[in-house]
Amino acid sequence: MLEHQNIRPEPIIESDIEWFQTLFKSCFCRDNPWMQHLGKTKYEAFHLNKQAFIFTYTVEDYTDLLTIGVHPHQRRRGVGEFFLKWIITKAPKAQKFFLEVECENNAAISLYKKIGFDLISIRKGYYPQSSGPALDAYVMTYQK
Ligand SMILES: CC(C)(COP(=O)(O)OP(=O)(O)OC[C@H]1O[C@@H](n2cnc3c(N)ncnc32)[C@H](O)[C@@H]1OP(=O)(O)O)[C@@H](O)C(=O)NCCC(=O)NCCS
Repeated sequence: MLEHQNIRPEPIIESDIEWFQTLFKSCFCRDNPWMQHLGKTKYEAFHLNKQAFIFTYTVEDYTDLLTIGVHPHQRRRGVGEFFLKWIITKAPKAQKFFLEVECENNAAISLYKKIGFDLISIRKGYYPQSSGPALDAYVMTYQK
């Protein structure tokens, strides 16, 4: 079990690419589109014991939460909530957070709502599907 309360988040660096790719695939069943941005200014990526990751993009007082994932075997134990709260806590006062989430991703939507994110708009047909109509994106925000 991942005792996340006792684990310090660590930055993901280029030498982490192999396991990060594997972990990302276990969360999203596709390749990681954010890897090319590792180490670039304004992008930050952290992991918790190689079992969870968060990737953000910050410009001044706006932070986009680009992706968050927890290994399937570690879910429903408070890891995602702990990690997201950690990102928010370490950000400066008055920081604004934005994210997009697939409208059918109930786990993620519940997590964001629990933390205090509000739904501010819906992007129709934002996520193409391999079959069937594209899914809407919920745009959610949180103000520190
Ligand atoms: C979304 C995700 C990060 C949640 O991580 P997690 O560590 O399992 O979440 P937590 O255990 O911290 O749960 C915190 C809250 O989130 C919500 N939640 C998490 N998983 C849920 C599920 N399967 N169904 C409903 N609500 C869920 C609940 O409100 C939960 O609070 P509770 O335990 O008091 O009910 C994880 O499911 C995941 O990695 N999913 C695949 C990747 C993904 O979709 N990322 C988001 C892209 S926008």
